[in-house]
Amino acid sequence: MTSSEAQKEILSLIQQINYHNNLYYQQSRTEISDFEFDQLLEKLIALEEQFPEHKKEDSPSQRVGGTITKSFNTVVHKYPMMSLSNTYSKEELTDWDNRVAKGLEGQGYEYFCELKFDGVALSLTYENGLLKRAVTRGDGTQGDDITANAKTIRTIPLSLSGEIPSEFEVRGEVYFPKHEFERVNKEREDIGEDKLANPRNAASGTLKMQDSSIVSSRKLDCYLYYLLGQDLEYTTHSDSINQIEGWGFNVSPTYRKCKTIEEVLEYIAEWEEKRHTLPSETDGVVIKVNRLDQQDQLGFTAKSPRWAIAYKYKAESASTILESISYQVGRTGAVTPVANLKPVLLAGTTVKRASLHNANEIERLGIRIGDTVSVEKGGEIIPKITGVDLTQRSDSSTPTEYITNCPECDTELVRLEGEANHYCPNTDGCPPQIQGRIEHFIQRKAMDIDSLGSETIRGLLDQGLIKDYSDLYTLTFEHLNGLEFKSFSDKKGDYSLRSLREKSASNIIKAIDESRKTPFEKVLFALGIRYVGQTVAEKLATHFETIQKLSEASLEELIEVPEIGDRIAESVVGFFKESNNRELVERLKTAGLQFEIVKQELVSEGTNLADKSFVISGVFTQFSRDELKEKIKANGGKVVSSISGKLDYLVAGDKMGPSKLEKATKLGVNIISEAEFLDLLGA
Ligand code: IVH
Repeated sequence: MTSSEAQKEILSLIQQINYHNNLYYQQSRTEISDFEFDQLLEKLIALEEQFPEHKKEDSPSQRVGGTITKSFNTVVHKYPMMSLSNTYSKEELTDWDNRVAKGLEGQGYEYFCELKFDGVALSLTYENGLLKRAVTRGDGTQGDDITANAKTIRTIPLSLSGEIPSEFEVRGEVYFPKHEFERVNKEREDIGEDKLANPRNAASGTLKMQDSSIVSSRKLDCYLYYLLGQDLEYTTHSDSINQIEGWGFNVSPTYRKCKTIEEVLEYIAEWEEKRHTLPSETDGVVIKVNRLDQQDQLGFTAKSPRWAIAYKYKAESASTILESISYQVGRTGAVTPVANLKPVLLAGTTVKRASLHNANEIERLGIRIGDTVSVEKGGEIIPKITGVDLTQRSDSSTPTEYITNCPECDTELVRLEGEANHYCPNTDGCPPQIQGRIEHFIQRKAMDIDSLGSETIRGLLDQGLIKDYSDLYTLTFEHLNGLEFKSFSDKKGDYSLRSLREKSASNIIKAIDESRKTPFEKVLFALGIRYVGQTVAEKLATHFETIQKLSEASLEELIEVPEIGDRIAESVVGFFKESNNRELVERLKTAGLQFEIVKQELVSEGTNLADKSFVISGVFTQFSRDELKEKIKANGGKVVSSISGKLDYLVAGDKMGPSKLEKATKLGVNIISEAEFLDLLGA
């Protein structure tokens, strides 16, 4: 392809992608499958890599991230980012309304009400229709430039068309949509990672991540609520909101103009419950004077505008009784205590359970069975116990003692140093752990045999037809057809007996058979090694290429793989140390599963690096590490994982570990930078 052909193709791809994005995000419609969409995007990314001269600043490829920002630049805000004065009281709100009336000396005025989103404030600067900068609030005067990360937020336009002011700033709130937050936490739980505490902190932490591709995978969103700039043509706040909405920004559909403070109070009452149905967490209502000339007239105090105020909802809480504590055991053996409460109505739903997290939390609360406790739901998904009413405690109550043995298999629990959770170490004999591992194995992201539901798995286990996931490959249609299993109607343990139909049985057999073709990286994820999630499995599979090499890798060799830390390395080594696990893998091999990476045809680019060996370490600006490896291989070089005297080059990026540098220096290895590597390529 010539450069000008590439340019044409890039433009056409951008147009198609933008068209489908717009359809999806603005009109909630789709015309092509996710797969087809991803293919367009991949094609664009490949072309942009090959012809960087045609890569555009507002290319939709930026949405997938990939940029590594080592440290964020500090940017001084053109207009300071102020905070709002807030109140929990309706009287204070009426007092504020009186001050506004007085300040406006008898002029008529109206308010603009919108919800107060509980996320992270962000300021976006557009110049000539292009998104130039995204900066966090910071201390209000200066914040961090997180442009690469903000560009991964799909609803933030990268460019605008039509009649747009040449320069303006628009501010809003980035939030972690509730359903996305749950999805990410499920994934983390799945591989034994600690869960993210709450959507707000998670959004803030995500925006400050160095690797924008992780930011992209978290699917943050953003509501815009404030337009700023010189020579903008609008006279009211509501006009400005309509304008930015027209330009394609995401504006919350919850705003409303109110003529009087009574109408404001109605708005507040109306959203008190309804707000829980919104995708973002909210903690109040923001009330703004609508006319801009009146905003100017009222002005600012040192910290906040006089023309706006936040009314905050009290965190909803209710009082109830702790009836019992039950303990759940997960796939990894981690034990979670759950509070069973006397049912109580809270924020529109009946609450019967709350998580107690771990033994520390129980100790911190000093909670006892029979205690009167307060439960809160700050818009969050799972209610939490925030306190114990000691005045109501019965004299006969006794301190809670954490269980010492597994509630499922009675094995003595262990608690590792530095970990908050207790674990059941009976990996191979504890029913929920066995069941959990099989459920992990069959899920769509892994072996994709999810026609096999959890009740059927339980049936198979109960009847001794399987003992672990490798036994799935010994099942026949006859085993499954008519298989009896218990169907549970609720968590109390009531069930009815059902039997598997012919059609389902044959579907399951088909899916098991198909799963033999699943690529190695997914099989590796399916094994359920603690801390080895999808991405880590991909990294390990590409690096080691076969399960044989991975299982023989030492701690040091594992740690030398980019992005693999001590914790993961120890877990992998630990997994393959167990003879049970090695046998399990052998059985899967015999069953015909894929335990080697399928190599892609390498397109040769030259022989400048012929027979030279390379170790790459650290973070690079122009290439991802995988790209760098491809480049080395495509030019005849070899990528190795450990530093030895025989090594030709260590390509050193930023953030490289000091021990590697020391070792390479000692052994007299050539240490080269990314730029020097490029010279070598071109030489
Ligand atoms: S207007 C001059 N509108 O609340 C202040 N802020 O305490 C202009 N916030 O830093 C801000 N939802 O992060 C405004 N609908 C909304 C908001 C909102 C949330 C946040 C924002 C601000 C903080 C002020």
